[in-house]
Amino acid sequence: MCRVVFVVALVVLVSPEAHGLDNGLALKPTMGWLHWERFMCNTDCDTDPDNCVSERLYMQMADVMVKEGWREAGYEYVCIDDCWPSHQRDAQGRLQADPKRFPGGIKKLADYIHSRGLKLGIYGDVGTSTCAGYPGSLGYYETDAQTFADWGVDLLKFDGCYMNWTRLGDGYVTMSKALNRTGRNIIYSCEWPLYEWPFHQPNYTAIRETCNHWRNFADVYDSWSSIKSIVEWTAAHQEIIVPSAGPGGWNDPDMLVIGNFGLSHDQQESQMALWAIMAAPLLMSNDLRDICPRSKGLLQNRQIIAISQDPLGKQGYRTAKVDSFEVWERPLSKKRLAIAVLNKQEIGGPRRFPIGMAPGWKICDPQCNVTQILPQYKELGIQTLHSKVAVLVNPSGTVLMTVTPANRHFKSHHSLHWQDTSIKDKHTTIL
Ligand SMILES: *[C@@H]1O[C@H](CO)[C@@H](O)[C@H](O)[C@H]1NC(C)=O
Ligand SMILES: *[C@@H]1O[C@H](CO)[C@@H](O)[C@H](O)[C@H]1NC(C)=O
Ligand SMILES: *[C@@H]1O[C@H](CO)[C@@H](O)[C@H](O)[C@H]1NC(C)=O
Ligand SMILES: *[C@@H]1O[C@H](CO)[C@@H](O)[C@H](O)[C@H]1NC(C)=O
Repeated sequence: MCRVVFVVALVVLVSPEAHGLDNGLALKPTMGWLHWERFMCNTDCDTDPDNCVSERLYMQMADVMVKEGWREAGYEYVCIDDCWPSHQRDAQGRLQADPKRFPGGIKKLADYIHSRGLKLGIYGDVGTSTCAGYPGSLGYYETDAQTFADWGVDLLKFDGCYMNWTRLGDGYVTMSKALNRTGRNIIYSCEWPLYEWPFHQPNYTAIRETCNHWRNFADVYDSWSSIKSIVEWTAAHQEIIVPSAGPGGWNDPDMLVIGNFGLSHDQQESQMALWAIMAAPLLMSNDLRDICPRSKGLLQNRQIIAISQDPLGKQGYRTAKVDSFEVWERPLSKKRLAIAVLNKQEIGGPRRFPIGMAPGWKICDPQCNVTQILPQYKELGIQTLHSKVAVLVNPSGTVLMTVTPANRHFKSHHSLHWQDTSIKDKHTTIL
């Protein structure tokens, strides 16, 4: 099967960066930990004290993040998801934490997290109720924004359950303004487009003006099929969503599930590589108190994190599908390029991919310097446009590389395409 489909990047539109949410935050994709995928709505602290949603869980996670090098690697936000509040607001109409599971309250917890040099995230919902049935913020946007600010919260994940979709935009914009008026720096993580897609194409210009990151697609599960569905959705909608990403605002493909149960190590490498290429927030949902050394090494890999956090702030995208390989490329600062090659053939052994087939390889005219980062660090050295070098990609694994133009006075009109944000697909079939 030698059918090769190239997705050629063309450039037409202007960069949307000027219209990002003006709160000075999330200039690089947010890094941290979020409880949902691993711990869900476990409120049973009597029989499962180590894994229930309680202040203890976040304090322990924060301690490990400091002790085990996570904070040094860049993971900063310790985030609470659904199921933290009491079912009743207090006499003043304010949200309050479940008194049994958070005896110290959120302010004390925030102080604890801050004393470790980390930041605290919390969760709310734009509608009448959270997805798990706790009080929603509809009718209380000002009160809840002020409560979160008073507690010292640094990030709000704002879900979209139990809301008439025609009012989603209003709700998310109103909360954004309420957060701004508190004067506190609070990253605003939205699910607005996720809840709007079933009805119509969301307005990403408005979303980028309102939120620091936004979920587009279904919740991640601890499985390869879940990761594949997210990656496929992202590629299928890249023309719409990639141009809206940039410093201050990012597409959010949901949590990293690396270090859990459902992914092989090759699949964990694929998630890490593709989340870095997609300029995704890196919010781990796993148990940092008990994680295998290989997963830890992968999540703390400095070269991959450098791709994720690259200062150019452009989201990468799928540039080719070739014989059950997918090529994903992300333009980096200093005219460099990250290339990920994913082997989607889930039978057989490692397969060779000649890297000259990656569309971005054109920056190797006249020369480039190639460094392989995954599955292991390997300097592939100086290459040219016509290099015969190939990489070996395991089934459902990914080879991740960076390519640096080697000639200082490198000139090619093609490379200029990587400086621009917008893309328009053109499918060309060759061979
Ligand atoms: C609030 O918005 C203004 C104007 O967009 C901006 O200059 C300011 O930094 C924002 N403040 C916070 C705390 O986000
Ligand atoms: C949602 O809001 C629209 C416009 O206000 C209204 O016409 C519609 O009946 C509402 N839908 C539901 C299910 O409440
Ligand atoms: C999208 O939102 C922007 C900014 O709020 C607005 O100017 C524009 O008119 C909207 N576009 C559509 C098609 O509604
Ligand atoms: C190629 O890149 C590697 C890794 O950054 C570096 O060690 C090496 O010196 C570079 N080679 C050349 C010729 O620039």
